[in-house]
Amino acid sequence: MEKGQSMWGGRFTKPPHELVEAFNASVHFDKRLAPYDIQGSIAHVKMLAKQGIIGTEDAQQIESGLQSIEADIKQGKFDFTTTLEDVHMNIESRLTERIGEAGGKLHTGRSRNDQVALDMHLFVKSEANEVKQLVHQLQGVLLDQAKAHMDVIIPGYTHLQRAQPVRFSHHLLAYFWMLERDGERLSGVEKRADMSPLGAGALAGTTFPIDREYVMHELGFSGLYENSLDAVSDRDYILEFLFAISTIMMHLSRFSEELILYSSTEFGWIELDDAYATGSSMMPQKKNPDVAELVRGKTGRVYGHLQGLLTTLKGLPLAYNKDLQEDKEGLFDALDTVKPSLQLFAGMLASLTVKKERLEELLQGDYSAATDLADELVRQGIPFRQAHEIVGKLVRYAADRKVAFHALTPSQLQEVAPQLDPAWVAELTPLRVVEARQSRGGTSMSAVEMQWEMANQAWEYHAFQ
Ligand code: ARG
Repeated sequence: MEKGQSMWGGRFTKPPHELVEAFNASVHFDKRLAPYDIQGSIAHVKMLAKQGIIGTEDAQQIESGLQSIEADIKQGKFDFTTTLEDVHMNIESRLTERIGEAGGKLHTGRSRNDQVALDMHLFVKSEANEVKQLVHQLQGVLLDQAKAHMDVIIPGYTHLQRAQPVRFSHHLLAYFWMLERDGERLSGVEKRADMSPLGAGALAGTTFPIDREYVMHELGFSGLYENSLDAVSDRDYILEFLFAISTIMMHLSRFSEELILYSSTEFGWIELDDAYATGSSMMPQKKNPDVAELVRGKTGRVYGHLQGLLTTLKGLPLAYNKDLQEDKEGLFDALDTVKPSLQLFAGMLASLTVKKERLEELLQGDYSAATDLADELVRQGIPFRQAHEIVGKLVRYAADRKVAFHALTPSQLQEVAPQLDPAWVAELTPLRVVEARQSRGGTSMSAVEMQWEMANQAWEYHAFQ
């Protein structure tokens, strides 16, 4: 190869236009794959030597050359250049500069198409596991906070209208289970990424007597692609990863919305720690939930990356097309978004305070015990629909007079719902309403404690995975 010529320059009479060069290049973002690229190349070159495709000495030179390049990259001493298009050619070209002719043998029986697919499989496998650990840590915080707040009762909503009171722990554990499914989805991603595409060549395999199983074992994969066309063009595992990340962001975004709402003056029963809030440059009284707002806001761009890749893949003929280079930036950005979001959420939840007196005040005198009144009538033999009607009237009666159920006098109760025992109604506190829900998965103390145990078991089980 002549100096200044690209790696594929043999067939060409002139170099690419400078705009083409810049447009084509991916090195400014795919340099992130360098450690995986080197790991993959070392496995490949060992296999080439083992199979007698290249000499052992060449292989050793290549391996140590690659290791020294890796060290340079780690220390920030490696200059990636756009002229060499991508991370693969930057590394290979530096290798040849460093060790001479032997460097040119590294790419034997391999194409950048199976090489980049390999890098991405290694990358996704490792990152999916990292995100899973972060999900697990956040679940741990939810378990701790659920344990610490077992006796806190909050209003439960449907349609954002007061529905029935629930334990705060119950609410927190709902997010535990969402994250549990997120963790399972990430395990699925790990599984799908756990396959070696190397040996597919550009699209059809290779004429050299390679040993794909060896490379697979060397790199710790559990399986390999059985079809070379599929191996170089499959990006399903990246889509799945983006979907899993999008779902995590969606969960965090819903949670964010609640934290924003519940910490506002109008609700006012949550206070974020100062370390997880920000102030206003103009209004001295402000304490803003910026972290939660940003998590909610950034969810949109992560969805965008999922939609973007789905659209990139739609209509692509087999096998490799340069469009596939577009699989990376969105994923990188999604990861750079979800990882700090999970970390920040863990800190934000671990440090928030719940204002119990405010909650007690809020729960006074709403009509969220209405279902319990209807259920009581049902226990006396009145059909539920009829009971619903009676209690509906009672709500209107009490609301018109601006009194809570328990503040209705016996004679007032007698007027609308004579079936109800005034003493029983007077004692219908939020605690009693909550405690009445003993059904599995419900919000009574015993049900939530049992749920907590199951969640904790699941959490401990995953700690070792
Ligand atoms: N930078 C390319 C990518 O990310 C590597 C593969 C290029 N292969 C090719 N035949 N142009 O997909």
